[in-house]
Amino acid sequence: MVDVRDPAVLGDPVRGYDRIQAESPICWARLANGEQGWLVTRSDDVRAVLTNPAVRNDPTGLPGHGARTQEQTFLALGTPPEHLPYLRATLLSLDGAEHQRLRRSIGHVFAASRVATLRPRVSQLVDELLDRLDTASGPGNAPVNLLDEYAYPLAMAVVCELVGVPEADWADWWRWGKVLVGGDPAGITATLGDMFSYCHALIDKRRADPRADLLSDVVAQDDLTDVDVVSLVVFLVLAGHETMAHMLSNAALALMRDPAQRELLRTEPDLWPAAVRELIRTDGPVQLARLRYAATDLEVGGVRVGAGDAVQVVLGAANRDPAQFAHPHDADVRWQAEHGRREGSFGFGWGPHFCLGVALAKLEAEVALRGLFDRFPEVSPVAEPAWVPLPRGRHRVNLDVRLR
Ligand code: HEM
Repeated sequence: MVDVRDPAVLGDPVRGYDRIQAESPICWARLANGEQGWLVTRSDDVRAVLTNPAVRNDPTGLPGHGARTQEQTFLALGTPPEHLPYLRATLLSLDGAEHQRLRRSIGHVFAASRVATLRPRVSQLVDELLDRLDTASGPGNAPVNLLDEYAYPLAMAVVCELVGVPEADWADWWRWGKVLVGGDPAGITATLGDMFSYCHALIDKRRADPRADLLSDVVAQDDLTDVDVVSLVVFLVLAGHETMAHMLSNAALALMRDPAQRELLRTEPDLWPAAVRELIRTDGPVQLARLRYAATDLEVGGVRVGAGDAVQVVLGAANRDPAQFAHPHDADVRWQAEHGRREGSFGFGWGPHFCLGVALAKLEAEVALRGLFDRFPEVSPVAEPAWVPLPRGRHRVNLDVRLR
């Protein structure tokens, strides 16, 4: 049986999913949480699953052998019962009207026109971080870690300033994020407890003393409970820095290895937005979408999926599907500029849960990557960084580079 935790897939996800997609594009498999369900890797099927109203994120009340409540799933993972309300209230745990209500409550903050006003601040942060990298590297051109010294600090600063998390606490969030991504259940439970308490205290502060940030905006909305607000803050800060940092690191690595695309961007800098879209297609940081469940019997790509079955969509595989993309494995900026918008891709998901932070993510990526390669055109990796052996993300363990 295909197993997404197979070391051969984790060690080389690109080839691993190529093989799975070619041999068994929809197959019954062992999934990231150890349970069994359908693994879906072709782009047409991924689109069909993520837009089907009979496919849900919340399995509560569904029939079939895979059905269970989200509560049971979390409790089986050792989650304390008092954490359940927060975990049930995240955007990715909700469906239908409830999901729309929560998404609308913060949608205006992530609208492209509003995000565009952040460009000068993002540019300033990028310039400051590049100065710091330069100093750390020194006259000897010592290696610097682009993931920890550039991508993470930038992603953390941008999302925390937007949400309203004070700078003194960013180091805690960085540590918490690493524990949650790391997957150790005991560590996750303790960390979630710390995060929830922290957010309740911050809500109280913003209620007493509102500022120009997302948190002050949402605490003033009558139809949101404190649990809703805590879940929003936790989810946004994590989504906004973990995925973003690894996107920057994956994309920087891909460009460092591709002198032709770098030269194209140097001579035609207007292509940077297309480059960002293309690098998210070929090297996006999210391998697996959140688990979905069939609410009724369905047919996906000629396969019958039973009511209650778990369905795991592989965004990373759909993004390199040869049936959709002429050069599935090559980041081709020119192709993306000319055809990419029409074709679409899956790095930010698809359907009602499509990434809410997409405009912010694209802005950050464009400013950060362009800033790096304009200032240090010769930047190069010191070694081939390994993949983090976890199924959900396409994350590198580090990214040591020489700037010159
Ligand atoms: C390059 C960086 C990013 C990538 C690749 C990315 C990718 C994704 C993907 C694939 C999903 C859909 C997951 C699913 O359907 O299972 C998603 C959802 C989401 N992302 Fe992002 N994301 C990025 C950055 C951000 C940022 C910066 C924010 C906000 C600060 C953000 C906020 C969200 C939210 C709120 C959702 C849930 C939307 C919903 O359920 O309605 N993301 N993201």
